[in-house]
Amino acid sequence: TIDTELKPHDTIPKAEKPVLVCILDGWGENENKDKFNAIHSAETPVTDALKEVPGRWRTVRAHGTAVGLPSDADMGNSEVGHNALGSGQVIDQGARLVDIALDNGSAFELDGWKYISESFPDNTVHFIGLLSDGGVHSRCNQLVGFLKGAAKDGAKRIRVHILTDGRDVPDGTSVKFVEELEKDLAELSGCDAKIASGGGRMHVTMDRYEADWKIVERGWQAHVLGEAPHKFTTALEAIKTLREGDGSKAITDQWLPPFVVTDDGGKAVGTIEDGDAVVLFNFRADRMVEISKAFEYEEFNAFDRKRFPKTRFVGMMQYDGDLKLPARFLVPPPAISGVSGELLAKAGVSTFACSETQKFGHVTFFWNGNRSGYFKEDLETYVEIPSDAVPFNEAPDMKAREITEAGKEALLSGKYQMVRINFANPDMVGHTGDLEACVGACSLVDKCVKELLDTVESLGGRWLLTADHGNADDMVQRAKKTNAPLFADSGAPLPLTSHTLAPVPVAIGGPGLPEGIKFRDDLPNAGLANITGTYLNLLGFATPAHMEPSLI
Ligand code: 3PG
Ligand code: CO
Repeated sequence: TIDTELKPHDTIPKAEKPVLVCILDGWGENENKDKFNAIHSAETPVTDALKEVPGRWRTVRAHGTAVGLPSDADMGNSEVGHNALGSGQVIDQGARLVDIALDNGSAFELDGWKYISESFPDNTVHFIGLLSDGGVHSRCNQLVGFLKGAAKDGAKRIRVHILTDGRDVPDGTSVKFVEELEKDLAELSGCDAKIASGGGRMHVTMDRYEADWKIVERGWQAHVLGEAPHKFTTALEAIKTLREGDGSKAITDQWLPPFVVTDDGGKAVGTIEDGDAVVLFNFRADRMVEISKAFEYEEFNAFDRKRFPKTRFVGMMQYDGDLKLPARFLVPPPAISGVSGELLAKAGVSTFACSETQKFGHVTFFWNGNRSGYFKEDLETYVEIPSDAVPFNEAPDMKAREITEAGKEALLSGKYQMVRINFANPDMVGHTGDLEACVGACSLVDKCVKELLDTVESLGGRWLLTADHGNADDMVQRAKKTNAPLFADSGAPLPLTSHTLAPVPVAIGGPGLPEGIKFRDDLPNAGLANITGTYLNLLGFATPAHMEPSLI
């Protein structure tokens, strides 16, 4: 049972001045301290100095089982990280819940599967999602599990629409994943199964937080209408050719243009028609919400769908618990309750949350346990600074300055007891694999942190600085055993675009924090979920019993 009543802290008095919680997205504390650690290479005097304050700086685990992922080989990510930071709990996450449902067969007994299986004998079943083993949004072995289940339960015609990754896994691996999938499809007995369309995840279908609906529109055209600028007779040929770009500049997996697979006569092999079943096979929500709306909502004006087939549509999970989107799903999502946002609203604490579009839902939706609404709207102000729609190594400053200004204004306004900020740069620039751009991004974020901390200092407030997972802290692929950087034949380092397994820093301070307050030393294995109680303490509340213990 969860007690949603916050109690006063034994020794830390209620904060009279604002408490700042600042998340540096993708800022890990990595053991590899060579030039490929963009944070180490950057000018970071402010965050470096925090390490020297006795008892007020440490690291916590941000990956694997510490954040509810299946194993400690799983890197952390923003969804599970912000869920843990916001809720103070380690919850079995989508990746794990789907594994369990496939292992014990319950996935095939639930309503979602029964609903789509009505289409199996006479219509096509389509699977749309991210094709890789990254384990952040999806995993290809889960897709194969469902493909086999469909064939076993009588599906006669299966079409898979693939988004290539290169962001949670190394660039170029799309070739291997497509080869494997084509083999798996060929082995499905008794059905005609093919890859029908696709494109790179950053350019096709997987937009998030309405940063750019054009991305979703391209996906709709390719997957549903069978229309795309590039047509090939196999998916393998498509990605191999498209990766070459125009000859002068190659295109990476993340950014491949949309393509459609056609028969020899040039006709798309897998358009989506009335009566077909459609499964989105990603378990993670943020990049599936928009395409879900396109499939589910009768009233829809984000783009012209041209044709709106009446499908049996399900998500791998329900992606938005407030919107109940999609209405039908294969595996029930993690139930996250008693989150800090709810408790603080109930206690009458006014909060301000801000990031730019790319991370806006992270500090609101994921933070609040995958809820898109407010707990008490009059107490909560959420500000989204629009992100640019460009590859972020081209504009690595992103909106860090604007976010800093918004955060300072909120702190100085006197209207908010808690101000929560997320800086997107170390993560979003880290994902481009561009070391130089990422170094610049980290230097800028360090400067922005200074401005925010100075503002809290001037007000006599308290602050907590942390991150959700690693990314910028390693920008090169490394040899498994020796950790030595890996290079291409050309001599260029092989970029690491994904997150890392590194722990993340946590620092506390501010003139409003009583002097004796230090981190305890009996929680060496603490993780992100231990941070929630910590910032509740900074506000002057005790850590609720259903949350992981505070670091203080
Ligand atoms: C993405 O969606 O951009 C990556 O797969 C994960 O990044 P995030 O977890 O930092 O959002
Ligand atoms: Co990321």
